[in-house]
Amino acid sequence: MPSPAAPPAAPIVYVLNGPNLNLLGTREPEIYGHDTLDDIAGQLEDRARELGLEIDMRQSNHEGHLVDWLHEAQAQDAKAVIINAGAFTHTSIAVHDAIKSIRTPVIEVHLSNPHAREKFRHTSFVGRAARGTIAGFGALSYRLALEAAARI
Ligand code: DQA
Repeated sequence: MPSPAAPPAAPIVYVLNGPNLNLLGTREPEIYGHDTLDDIAGQLEDRARELGLEIDMRQSNHEGHLVDWLHEAQAQDAKAVIINAGAFTHTSIAVHDAIKSIRTPVIEVHLSNPHAREKFRHTSFVGRAARGTIAGFGALSYRLALEAAARI
């Protein structure tokens, strides 16, 4: 008897995190909250399962990793990319260009609201290239971005 066909793989959403986000939970909790990146990954995995999606959560303190992962998302036919580029948001033309270079929809996310903070956070090179931005809702920003990823 032929073995039953494997169920089709769920569409993947890459969730990319930039510098210092590995310290979430202890890093300036009054701004970024008490959830760790692992806590956020758990919340996203639960919701992704309900939405019929899979998430691939990554973090790096190195700009080039974010560029490589954006390229990889397109090569792997990811449904979308959610990116919190941390401080590279405000500095990185390379991440901006990588987002522009791929057809995969990219959603910018921030825990805090950079527009309500220091002036140097008011420019986002990521936001200029992304499909949309969700910011200011703490860990909930990521879950809202996943809802958007499921619908685009
Ligand atoms: C951040 C905001 C950035 O300005 C900052 O450099 C971060 C975190 C946020 O999620 O609120 O590292 O991206």
